Order: sequence, then C-alpha cells, then structure tokens
Amino acid sequence: MSLIPCNSLLPVPSGSLQISELPPAVLAVGSDSIQFSLVIPTYNEATNIQGIVSILSQLLDQFIPGTYELIVVDDDSPDRTWEVAQSLMPEYSQLRVMRRQHERGLSSAVIRGWQVARGQVLGVIDGDLQHPPQVLLQLLSAIAGGADLAVASRHVQGGGVSSWSFMRRFLSRGAQLLGLILLPGVLERVSDPMSGYFIVRRSCIANVILNPVGYKILIEVLGRGKVRQIAEVGYVFQERQEGESKVTWKQYIEYLQHLIRLRLSQGKMSLFRQRLGFPSTRFIRFGLVGLSGVFVDMALLYLLSDPSTLGLPLTRSKIIAAEFAIINNFLLNDRWTFADIANEQKHWYQRCKRFLKFNIICLGGLILNVLILNLIFNFVFANRYIANLIAIAIVTVWNFWINLKLNWRVTQVK
Ligand code: GDD
Ligand code: MN
Repeated sequence: MSLIPCNSLLPVPSGSLQISELPPAVLAVGSDSIQFSLVIPTYNEATNIQGIVSILSQLLDQFIPGTYELIVVDDDSPDRTWEVAQSLMPEYSQLRVMRRQHERGLSSAVIRGWQVARGQVLGVIDGDLQHPPQVLLQLLSAIAGGADLAVASRHVQGGGVSSWSFMRRFLSRGAQLLGLILLPGVLERVSDPMSGYFIVRRSCIANVILNPVGYKILIEVLGRGKVRQIAEVGYVFQERQEGESKVTWKQYIEYLQHLIRLRLSQGKMSLFRQRLGFPSTRFIRFGLVGLSGVFVDMALLYLLSDPSTLGLPLTRSKIIAAEFAIINNFLLNDRWTFADIANEQKHWYQRCKRFLKFNIICLGGLILNVLILNLIFNFVFANRYIANLIAIAIVTVWNFWINLKLNWRVTQVK
C-alpha cells in the first residue's frame, strides 16, 4: 500500500471547471470529517503564505477543529510560493497544496481548488492578508445559520477599504456600476460583487459548468449558481504588507469580457423576469418627486436666466436651478420614495452620506442634463424649455436606477 508522503502536491484537475456534488472519491481520503474547504489562490505570495496559513490554522483549529482544510492553489509563482507552502505541510496537517503549471488566472485557480476540495462548504480568501481572516468565523456562522452564500463586503456596515486612492475607489465602483447595467439581476444581489472573499455551499454550484475569466469569481457563482439566501458581513480591505497587487488593466478587460459572457449565457426568461421585478411604484414616486424638482428647476431657470428677469447666463442659471432641485428631490425621496429603506439607516451620518451620494449621482446626471440640453438646443431645435424637458426625462431614469442600486440600497447584514 503506497503511503502518500505528507507533503505531496495535489493532482491538478483538467477539463471543464465543474464542481461535483460529492468530493472526488480518489481524493476523498479522510473526507468524512472535512466540512469546510478554503482555497487560497496565490501568485508570488512567498512572503505572505506562512502568515496566512498560520493565522487561518490558529483560528479554525479553535472554531472548527479537524473539520476544515486549506488548499493553496499556486500558478507556478516565480518566487516559488508553492514550494514554501509545501514546506509548511508537515506542520499544518490541514494544509494541501496545488501547483498549476499549464493554467493561469485567479478565478480558475479557485475553481480547480474547489474541484479537489472535500468539504460541503467551499470558500476563497486572498493569500496576501488583505482579507482579515477573523471575518471567516462570521461567514461560517452565517452559513450555519442557513445562508447559501456568505460574502465579506466592503460596502455594508463595518465595511470599508483601508486607504485606497480616489482612482482605485472610482474604478472599483465604476466596475460595479458597469456590472449593474450589464447584469442587473446578478450583481444587485450583493453590495460588493467585486469581493474575492466569500464562502458558499457546494450544492449551490455543483454540476454547473463554470466559465469565469479574470479576478471576479463571485459574479460567476452568482451568475451560474443556484444561490437562494445570501448573507453579508462587513470587513475592511487591508493594506498589503508584502508583495504587490497583480491587478493590471488586463483584469479590467477580462472583467468586461466576463460580464458579457455571463450576460450572453442568461436566457431571455431571466431578462423578462428582471423586467417583471422593476420597482414601478417606487419609480412612479421617484418620477413625481422629480416632477416637483422640475418645477423648482424651471421656476429658478426662468427667474435667473430669462431676459425679462435676471438674464444670467444659461449654464450658470441651470446649475443653480438644478442644485436647488436636487435638494428638494433628496428630501422628498428620503422621506417618501425610499422611506422604507431609509428608515433602516436613520443615523444622521447615514442620511448625510446618502445626501452626498445623491448629490454626486445627480451631479453626474446634471452634467448629462447640461450636455443633452445644449446638444438639443444647439443642434436639434432651439427651444430651451423643450430641450430641457427631454434632458430631464432621460436623466430621471438614470438618477432613479443608480440611486436605488448604489445609494438607498441596504443589505441586511446577518
Ligand atoms: N493562483 C493565482 N493565479 N492566484 C492569483 C493570480 C493568478 O493568476 N492573480 C492573483 N492571485 C492571488 C494573489 O496572490 C492574491 O492572493 C489574490 O489572488 C488577490 O490578488 P491581488 O493581486 O492581491 O488582488 P487585489 O489586492 O488587487 O484584490 C482585488 O482582487 C481580489 C481578488 O478578486 C480586490 O478586488 C479584492 O477584493 C479581491 O479579493
Ligand atoms: Mn491583494
């Protein structure tokens, strides 16, 4: 009987990226006790891997002793992360290591790790300690509480990013917004679809051919899995201490590719279902509030810019009129259109945060409004009031949808 040395590398699965309902028999040695498999995808994390393995082992040895495994999936890192991880195996009996030499990419690494996993709950955490390991205990409790998927989110209470530049925040939120436009029914289910830190029941993604590209494995699980109940736990994305992020523009292109691929894989029915889910009542209220804002906007535009009153320049008048309309609309939307959601976030700083976001979203809409107004007024027909009405109608749909998805939305953090 050939004994498998305690530090042998895992066999690398090939073929389709499909997770089986049960752990693969050939690897199922000792699988009856393993409940939770956590994949740590690594690329050039030789300086981090010991730290993350030791912290995770300490945490899980206390929380779920002997019923978990850590699976490092390394893509043949030039700094030989796989070799460092392999050298830790004798000390950490729950540690398994895979070295991929013919496939690369974060998402596929995670799935290959899940293919050799023995647990009924599968998870992923970055290998660079930017995801606080202790949040894992809350994620596991959420699954024990009945959730199918538990996501560590930067965008719920207790969440955040350590010190990201404005550009990084803008890009991250922009990517999320793009996803909401292309895949509303998928990305709107969580507040942080960009998160790479979550755990999911094997049954939700079993027997489904996954086909991710790039970094965002969570949208693949949401888009192709059978996930019913979702829990979110706030976490603060930490500063990297060692090594550097591998995110380049390539990941952003791959993300777009991934969204389009998922969009094309969604049937017409799901699109129809999404239409059915359109919150029309709320939109009608938002429209009525917007109408009151139009009066404020028009009245001030007249008072400020009409030759028979103050006769100020058109754009300057428009900006002042629009800001007063924005304040009017925020107060009414917060108290009526989105009152049910706003009442779950009553703290003054939450209201201020919503007002600030409302302003940013509406100012984005204002820029759109001024552009459309000038476009129509200068190139289509020179009636400023009709041009303004058309511009306002277009921007109203924009403002409603973005505010609903990125501003007033609240996620029940379980
Ligand atoms: N196996 C493998 N192959 N691992 C990879 C690869 C790869 O091609 N690229 C990156 N990784 C590993 C890194 O070693 C790290 O452990 C983790 O994936 C995240 O990579 P980073 O390069 O550190 O990404 P980040 O810090 O910008 O984090 C962003 O992406 C993460 C993954 O989606 C953020 O959006 C995080 O929230 C997210 O978890
Ligand atoms: Mn990182």
